[in-house]
Amino acid sequence: MPSRTLPAFRSLGDFIAHLEAADELVRVSEPISVVHEMTEIHRRVLRGNGRALLFEHAVKADGARSEMPVLVNLFGTLKRIAWGLGVEADALPALGEAMAELSRPEMPDGLGEVLRKLPLARAALSMRPRQVNGDVDRRTVLSGEAVDLTRLPAQVSWPGEPGPLITWPLVITRGPEAGTPENVGVYRIQILGRDSAIIRWLPHRGGAGHHRMWRDRGMEMPVAVVIGADPATMLAAVFPLPETLSELRFAGLLRGERPRLASCVSVPLRVPADAEIVIEGFVSPTQTAPEGPYGDHTGYYGDVESFPVTRVTAMTMRKKPVYLSTFTGRPPDEPSRIGEALNILFLPLIRRSFPEITDLWFPPEACSYRIAVVAIDKRYPGQARRVMLGLWSILPQLSYTKFLILVDHDINVRDWEDVAWAVSTRSDPSRDLVVIDGTPIDNLDFASPKLGLGGKLGIDATNKIGSETERKWGRRLAMDPAIVGRIDEIWDRLGVDPRASAARGAA
Ligand SMILES: Cc1cc2nc3c(=O)[nH]c(=O)nc-3n(C[C@H](O)[C@H](O)[C@H](O)COP(=O)(O)O)c2cc1C
Repeated sequence: MPSRTLPAFRSLGDFIAHLEAADELVRVSEPISVVHEMTEIHRRVLRGNGRALLFEHAVKADGARSEMPVLVNLFGTLKRIAWGLGVEADALPALGEAMAELSRPEMPDGLGEVLRKLPLARAALSMRPRQVNGDVDRRTVLSGEAVDLTRLPAQVSWPGEPGPLITWPLVITRGPEAGTPENVGVYRIQILGRDSAIIRWLPHRGGAGHHRMWRDRGMEMPVAVVIGADPATMLAAVFPLPETLSELRFAGLLRGERPRLASCVSVPLRVPADAEIVIEGFVSPTQTAPEGPYGDHTGYYGDVESFPVTRVTAMTMRKKPVYLSTFTGRPPDEPSRIGEALNILFLPLIRRSFPEITDLWFPPEACSYRIAVVAIDKRYPGQARRVMLGLWSILPQLSYTKFLILVDHDINVRDWEDVAWAVSTRSDPSRDLVVIDGTPIDNLDFASPKLGLGGKLGIDATNKIGSETERKWGRRLAMDPAIVGRIDEIWDRLGVDPRASAARGAA
């Protein structure tokens, strides 16, 4: 991995201290309700790429003062997400390269190879968790009658939602077979009462898969939910990592030190020792309850659906815990900002399968994954279609990308003006559309004809070459670079509208 340029944050507290020293966190002392008010403030600050917010006097949904402060907008900018991973934002592409290298471990074929791969091998060793016992004793432990989820300042983000929701939980599960790695995913949790809740995992998530395994054996599944941990662990939980790689170990790699894990007090699972709040319990194999409707990252209310009920057996917390929260809604929201970072980090991995891809952009406004614009260095007829079909199949997450727009590498995929120009000048609807139906689609996509099953559209907006066209193709207008240079030189003397200077050199 590229060397960290930031300290190894062991806890959320370490990261908060770093943000505060860098003037990236604001403390809000005004009492603010977790019901709607926090969302509205967060939404405005996030849209303006603002700082993280620590509400010191949050008011809970029941009207009582919260005993703990509420932190929101922690990962509201690309800069803070990169810091959470230990690097500056401009080092994210290099981190992505290192991650791509890691996900394809190859046997070294010779001593030279071993030496070249040594930094990675050493890094991989750092992933082995270290068991920590001492810290647990210093935590507040609530068990039995004392368990009370309503002590948490859980948000009600949007009007019409049925009750408080834990929005940033790290849900830790493992399969019933001994020795399988644990999974960590962020799945929202509806609080039903003092000791019961519903975890909403989409069917293809790691937690849902584990629950199916326990359910098939007729057994309750142990679960541990962490609210607030070191930033690398929280971000690793959101990464689409292969099932065989534990997010906790991967977080250790990002931090550059072995993860410190502590045993839970009432379930056979381990959690980050420095977690702010841990909720332990068992997920029923049979009992379900209706969840929602809640605001989704699509900008709509989701459906009411039944999910298994979790019985809470214990809660543990630091002496002065910080409660981490967020809202999900129409982009931009925090998950869409994290999506932008993932776009940068996973591009190198995708390019290993398709080296002709020069750039790829998931516009956040299209819910982070529903539209992708892909630039390729096109060499042969049909290449754009090959890349489309490949992308739709290479990662489960990419099967939810309903629209793929393929352009040449002279087009800036992040610039809709450029993309619209390419679509309108380089594609023809009778020849350049690829339409497929009956493919897997996001369950949250209510526009698809059936739940989980919908279509795909590919637009080949690349220049047509070889047998792709019998027509004489257009030649792109371009100004003589010598003239561009000369006008650049005399520009300031001309005294023409200075706002026009941004358009210098454009054809
Ligand atoms: C703030 C936030 C909330 C999320 N809420 C959910 C959710 O309610 N259900 C879900 O299935 N995924 C949700 N996700 C996405 C998953 O956490 C993410 O895709 C993760 O990689 C899943 O991990 P897994 O592949 O190990 O299951 C959320 C992500 C974030 C950042």
